Amino acid sequence: MLSEVEANNEQRTTNNEQRNIMKLNIALLAGDGIGPEVIEQAVKVSNAIASKFNHEINWTPALTGAAAIDAVGEPYPDETHAICEAADAVLFGAIGHPRFDNDPSAKVRPEQGLLKMRQKLELFANVRPTFTFPSLIDKSPLKRERIEGTDLIFLRELTGGIYFGERGRLNANETAFDTCTYHRNEVKRLAKKGFELAMKRSKKLCCVDKANVLETSRLWRETVQAMEKDYPEVAVSYEFVDAVAMRLVQWPNAYDVLITENLFGDILTDEASVISGSMGLMPSASVGEKAKLYEPIHGSYPQAAGKDIANPLATILSAAMMFEDFDLTDEAKAIRDVVNKSLSEGIVTEDLADGGKAYKTSEVGDWLAANV
Ligand code: IPM
Ligand code: MN
Repeated sequence: MLSEVEANNEQRTTNNEQRNIMKLNIALLAGDGIGPEVIEQAVKVSNAIASKFNHEINWTPALTGAAAIDAVGEPYPDETHAICEAADAVLFGAIGHPRFDNDPSAKVRPEQGLLKMRQKLELFANVRPTFTFPSLIDKSPLKRERIEGTDLIFLRELTGGIYFGERGRLNANETAFDTCTYHRNEVKRLAKKGFELAMKRSKKLCCVDKANVLETSRLWRETVQAMEKDYPEVAVSYEFVDAVAMRLVQWPNAYDVLITENLFGDILTDEASVISGSMGLMPSASVGEKAKLYEPIHGSYPQAAGKDIANPLATILSAAMMFEDFDLTDEAKAIRDVVNKSLSEGIVTEDLADGGKAYKTSEVGDWLAANV
C-alpha cells in the first residue's frame, strides 16, 4: 500500500522548499453512535488541510458495526474489507450499540466487526498517546502538579492474547474459559515498534506485564530482554500491570513509551485517556505491515448520537496522526495548532465548555476547517 502512495507522490517546489504533493485514498468507516458526526468533522478539517497544502484526498465510505449488521447482517462485510485493503489508510469513527450490550445471547455483535477488521488487516500495534493541553489542565481529575508535562504513548498489542484465544463453555454451560496465548514473534514485532519509537523520543521504554504470575508475561519479558542488546541506548524498565495502573494516576509523567499485551493495554489506555481532561480528546492509530487505521479512543457514546454535541477533537487529532504517518509533518502540525487555538479561544463542545458557550460538533468542525 505504501509503495502506491509513494508512486503517487510528485516532488514540487513551493517557496524554495521541496514539498510532497500526495494523492491519498482513504477508506471512511463512520460506524455507529456519534461515529458519523465526528468523522464528518475530521473530513472537513482534512479537506481543508488538503487544499491548503495541495493534496488530493479521495474518501471511500464503507459500512461497519451495527450499521453494517442492519444493512447486510454482518459487522465487517467483505466489501468493507476490500475497500480498506485497497486504501492508503482507514479513518474510523466508533462501533457499538446498546441494543447488543444488553443482550448477551446476540449471535452477531458490532464489536466482532472491530476485532475481525483488526485481525484481517493485521493491525497488530495500537498506538495510543496521552498528552495534556495547557489550556485544559485544570479539567483533569488529577492535580495539575501531577500531570503537567505528561506525554506518553502506549503501544498495545492488538491481534493476539485473550481477545483471540480459544474460549468456550464446559460442564453443561456452568464453566466458561478464555485463553491467553502469545507467540514470541508477536511479542517481537510489537516490541520492535516500541524500541523504535523510544529511539525517536526520550529513549525510555516500559514493558508492562504480570510476569510474577502469567506464563505469557514471562515470554514477553524474556523476549524484550533479549532485544535490549540491539538498542543499547534505550533504558528499559519492566513493571507489573497492577503497579502501572497505580503509578499512571500518581505520576503519569514518569512514563514515556509503554508496551503491553492486548487486554492490559485495553484497560490502561482507558485509564490514561482521562488524564487529559476529556475522553473526547485522545486519538489513536492501529498499524501493521500492510495497513493503517486511525480512530478516536472514545467509543460510540450512543446517548449523544445524532445530537451534534459530541467532541470531534479526538477524531480530528487521529487524522493528524494519519498525516504524520504519511510524513506530512507540517500538515499534522497545522491540525494540532488549530486544535490548540480552538481550545484556548473556547470554541469547544459542551464536555469542555465549563459554563461558557457550548459549540455544536459541526460548529467546531467548521471553525477548525476555516482556521487551518
Ligand atoms: C477498544 C475497545 C474495543 C477493545 C472493544 C469495543 C472491542 O474497547 O478499542 O479499546 O476492547 O479493544
Ligand atoms: Mn477499550
